[in-house]
Amino acid sequence: MNKLQLTPNTTLYPVPVVLVTCGAGDQVNIFTLNRIASCNAEPPMLSISVRPSRASHDLIDQTGEFVVNIPWPNLELVADFVGTTTCREVDKWQETGLTTQPAVVVAAPMLDACPVNLECQVRHRLRLPSHSLFVAEVVALHALPDVLNGRQEVDFEQAGAGLAYRAGVVRERPVDNFQPDALRQQIHRWRDSQ
Ligand SMILES: Cc1cc2nc3c(=O)[nH]c(=O)nc-3n(C[C@H](O)[C@H](O)[C@H](O)COP(=O)(O)O)c2cc1C
Repeated sequence: MNKLQLTPNTTLYPVPVVLVTCGAGDQVNIFTLNRIASCNAEPPMLSISVRPSRASHDLIDQTGEFVVNIPWPNLELVADFVGTTTCREVDKWQETGLTTQPAVVVAAPMLDACPVNLECQVRHRLRLPSHSLFVAEVVALHALPDVLNGRQEVDFEQAGAGLAYRAGVVRERPVDNFQPDALRQQIHRWRDSQ
């Protein structure tokens, strides 16, 4: 069958979806991110790409730190909410009821609802046309015993249905007929059911 030539996109699969916490003290934030990649082994490093327009961009840029929280699949609603609201207008903590605990090395907090948390410190920054690339070292790793294999490694298969909330398409907002008010009501129902 003939292939169609499409508008270029990064088009990798699977696309991981993570919740990033950043900031320090009483200025901590959470947002959703899928432009993330493992990029070095010794020491372990990963890269995230963040648009300068995000409030989180400046928090990461100023502190040089963040936490990558890997969500269970059932946190998709939370990922949509914190990925479509900005802390400049919405108190995401109050709206979601999400709780945190202090990280061990970095100032940004770790999300309780996620089974895996990676504490990261930025080592390199690169300004790309639309995003800033932050290359960071993973300086501490926390995981629930449920997701460890016999060698004490995080093994996504241990969690049954698979750990990460994965998307098939790189996107930065929920699809087409997006209704912010409906999402807000859904997240309140989710919060009140926890
Ligand atoms: C599934 C999904 C993936 C996203 N991936 C990214 C990303 O890789 N980089 C980015 O800058 N924003 C990404 N976003 C958008 C931010 O999460 C969103 O703009 C958020 O409102 C920023 O919040 P803040 O202004 O409080 O920092 C994504 C959003 C969603 C829903």
